[in-house]
Amino acid sequence: MTAATANANRSFPLHPFSTNPLQTRDDVVAAVASLLDPLAGGASPLHSMVKVGSSGTRFDETAAQIEGYARPLWGLAPLVAGGSKYEGTERFVQGLVAGTDPESDEFWGYMEDQDQRMVEACPIGYTLAIANKDFWDPLTDKQKQNVEAWLGSMNDKDMPNTNWLWFRVFANLGLAKNGANWSKERLEADIKQLNTFYRGDGWSNDGPEGYRQMDYYSGSFAIQYLQLLYAKLAADRDPTQAEEYKARARLYAQDFVHYFDPEGRAITFGRSLTYRWAMVAFWGSVAFADVELPAPLTWGVVRGIWLRNLRWWTTQKDIFQPNGMLSIGYSYPNTYLAENYNSPGSPYWCMLAFAPLALPESHPFWSSKEEPHPYADERIVRAIPHPRHIVIRSGGHTFLLSSGQSCHYPLKATQAKYGKFAYSAAFAYSVGTGSYGLEQYVPESSLALSDDGGEMWKMRRAHDGDTEIENHDGVPVLVSSMKPWNDVKVLTYLVPPAEDTPNWHLRVHRIRTGRDLQTAEGAFAVYGCRDADGRNLTELNESISEGGKADSTSAFAASRSGAVGIVELSQKERSGSVLLSDANSNLVEARSVLPTILKDLKAGDTVWFVTAVYALPASVQGWKDQWKAGWEKRPAIPNWLQNKISGRWD
Ligand SMILES: *[C@@H]1O[C@H](CO)[C@@H](O)[C@H](O)[C@H]1NC(C)=O
Ligand SMILES: *[C@@H]1O[C@H](CO)[C@@H](O)[C@H](O)[C@H]1NC(C)=O
Ligand SMILES: *[C@@H]1O[C@H](CO)[C@@H](O)[C@H](O)[C@H]1NC(C)=O
Repeated sequence: MTAATANANRSFPLHPFSTNPLQTRDDVVAAVASLLDPLAGGASPLHSMVKVGSSGTRFDETAAQIEGYARPLWGLAPLVAGGSKYEGTERFVQGLVAGTDPESDEFWGYMEDQDQRMVEACPIGYTLAIANKDFWDPLTDKQKQNVEAWLGSMNDKDMPNTNWLWFRVFANLGLAKNGANWSKERLEADIKQLNTFYRGDGWSNDGPEGYRQMDYYSGSFAIQYLQLLYAKLAADRDPTQAEEYKARARLYAQDFVHYFDPEGRAITFGRSLTYRWAMVAFWGSVAFADVELPAPLTWGVVRGIWLRNLRWWTTQKDIFQPNGMLSIGYSYPNTYLAENYNSPGSPYWCMLAFAPLALPESHPFWSSKEEPHPYADERIVRAIPHPRHIVIRSGGHTFLLSSGQSCHYPLKATQAKYGKFAYSAAFAYSVGTGSYGLEQYVPESSLALSDDGGEMWKMRRAHDGDTEIENHDGVPVLVSSMKPWNDVKVLTYLVPPAEDTPNWHLRVHRIRTGRDLQTAEGAFAVYGCRDADGRNLTELNESISEGGKADSTSAFAASRSGAVGIVELSQKERSGSVLLSDANSNLVEARSVLPTILKDLKAGDTVWFVTAVYALPASVQGWKDQWKAGWEKRPAIPNWLQNKISGRWD
C-alpha cells in the first residue's frame, strides 16, 4: 500500500471500543462504558432523551430520541446488576424519572396504539427487573407511580401481532418484580399469543401464519433472546414455561451455531442489521438464563462465538461517528440498508448482546476457557426446514442458501434482505441504491430481470406458492418459484457444494417468458479496489490475485475480500461482466464489484440456466495459491438435475 493510500484510508481517531481486546469480563465492562460515554453529549437537559443524529423515521422525533435513551439500558442494566459500576448511571435514572413524569418538560407521552414507545418499554422493564437497586428503589412513591402508569399505559393498546408482544411482557414483568401494579392477564395473554408463532425445532416465526419470516428476530434480536430472559426472570412464577423456553433454545442453538463463522462473523440475512452485534445476543441470553447446551456447545464454545463476534466488530473501525456515537449502517455509515424505523439511536439495540454482564466472574460463561468454533474444520451441509435455509460450511466458507422467506410488509430493499439465493458470513449482502440501471439494482446473489431495456430490474421478492426442500442422493436442495410478471415464471433449484468442488454452489433456473427480457445474475460482491493504490480494480493480475476478468460464459473477481466468480454451465453464451456496483451497496465494503453473467431472452422462450457460483474468502489461509485451481475445476451437474433439464419439463 502506498503512503498516500494508507493516509486516504485512515479512520477517525480510534474509538476505545476498536482497541478493546475483549477477552475478559472487565474488558467487556470497559467496552460498554466506552459505548455509553459519548451518549452524554446528546442527552436532553433532564436526560430522558438522547439525540444521536438528525435523520428521520416513520414515527415521531420524541420516540426516536427515547430509543437513544432506552436502548443503551440493554447494556447498562446487566452491567450494574452484575455488580460493576458505571459512573454515568445516575443520568439514566434521572432520565427515567423525567420521561415518565407527566408534569415534566421531558414527559415522553403515554402510549398510543402501535406506538414505537412500546419497543422501549422492553429495555425499561428489563432494567426494572434486574437493576431495581439503582432504577426503582431510590425513586419516590410519586416517581414510582409515574413509571407504573407510563408502562401500564401500554396494557390497553393495540400492538403489532409480532415479536413486539414480548415488549409488553417485559413491561409487566418489570413492574411485577417490584410489587407495582401490573397486568397478569395481559402478560399471560401475550405469552399465549407469542407461543402461537412457534413452529417447532426451536424456531418461531416473527408473526402468525401466512408468511415465513425467520430472521435474526426469531433468535438474537427478539424472540429467543426474550424467551430466555423471561425463563430466568419468571422461573419462580412460571416454571413450566421457563423450561419450555430453555428446551427451545437447546434445539435452536444447534442450528444457529452455523450462522457464525470461525472468524466471528455472522451471516448477513434479513432486516435491522444496523443492530450489528445484537446478532450474537442469543448466546449471551443462553448464559444469562444458565442454559446448558448439548455437545459440542460447551460454555467455552458459547463464550468463543460471542467474543469473536464482538472482536470482529472491533476491526470494523468505521462504525462510529466522529463524536463516538454509533452510526446507522453496518461496517460503515449507510442508509441504503436502513429501515424506515431505524432512528439514529436505533443501532443501540446492539447493547442486547451484553446480558452476560449480569453474571459474576465465577459463572462458567466467564470462567471457561474460550474455545474455537466447533465446526471450523468440518464440512456442514444441513437443511433447516423452518427458515427454509441450507446452512453450509465448505471450503472455508460459511454461508447459507435461502428460498421461501419474505417480509410481511413493504420493507425497503426487501429483495436484498430476504429474496437472495445465498447469504454469506464472509461476503456481506448488497442492497440496491437507486432505480436506474443494473449498477444501482446490484443483482448480488440474485437473478435480475428487465423488460424495459435495462432501466428497471426485478429480483426475487415474493414466492409463487411454498418452497420445498427436496432430497437428491442424500443432498438437500431448495426448490422455489417466482412470477415477477404474470407471463414470466422462474423455477429455481439451489444445490449446495459437492465434496470435490467445495467452493461452488449451483443455482439452476428454468425461465418461461411471455415477453422479451434481459437477465443478469450476480455472484457475491468483493472489495472493488486495488491494495497498492486504492484505485478501481482492473484486469486480473494473477501474480497478485487481484482484479477481474470475464468471457462469454463467466465473470470473476479477486481482491482483499477473496475470490468470487460465476459461470454458466449449460448455455453456450451468457456473457460475463464485472459490474461496478454502485458505491455503498455492499454492507461491509463501501466500494465493491460484482461478477455478473447476462443474457437476453425472447418472448416465448423456455430456457434453463445452470449457474455455478464460486466463492473463496480471503480468511482461508493460502487462498491466493488456491483460487486458480478451484475456479478452473468446474462443478458437475448432478444426474437428477441433468435429467430434468434434458427431458421432463413439468
Ligand atoms: C393497574 O393496572 C391496570 C392495567 O395496567 C389498570 O387498568 C389499572 O387501572 C391499574 N390500577 C391502579 C390502581 O393503578
Ligand atoms: C472507476 O470507476 C468509475 C465509476 O464507474 C469509472 O467511471 C472509472 O472509469 C473507473 N476507473 C477505472 C480506472 O477503471
Ligand atoms: C502484476 O502485479 C505485479 C506486482 O505488483 C506487477 O509487477 C506486474 O507488472 C503486474 N502485472 C500486470 C500484467 O499488470
